[in-house]
Amino acid sequence: MIGRLNHVAIAVPDLRPPRQPIATLWARRSPHPEDLPEHGVTVVFVELPNTKIELLHPLGAGSPIEAFLAKSPSGGIHHVCYEVDDIRAARDRLRAQGARVLGDGEPRIGAHGKPVLFLHPKDFSGTLVELEQA
Ligand code: CO
Repeated sequence: MIGRLNHVAIAVPDLRPPRQPIATLWARRSPHPEDLPEHGVTVVFVELPNTKIELLHPLGAGSPIEAFLAKSPSGGIHHVCYEVDDIRAARDRLRAQGARVLGDGEPRIGAHGKPVLFLHPKDFSGTLVELEQA
């Protein structure tokens, strides 16, 4: 039901290329940040051999990343994203097992142009979970 890890998202206070030593780790950044107004974020992806890192920066008023950075000013892991074949079927199965789906529960289009949903961290060991239909 849950497929491969699609990405780990890290909230960052600054989207400019970082200084060493993390610049080495994040050398394979996408060249252009992408604004996702519906999600209140600007994203930059870092490609790794087996997955991606999604760097998240606040976009617009009331961005969820702004609140996150208020608590963790130097940034931190924000969510993990798992792939699923059928996002509505996965949502319904997880809901039936007691998981809380954030927002109105309807998938929205995420950073890769595919439907995504977020699940409440209290139901997943304190980790915000994103599902993406692969
Ligand atoms: Co994500």
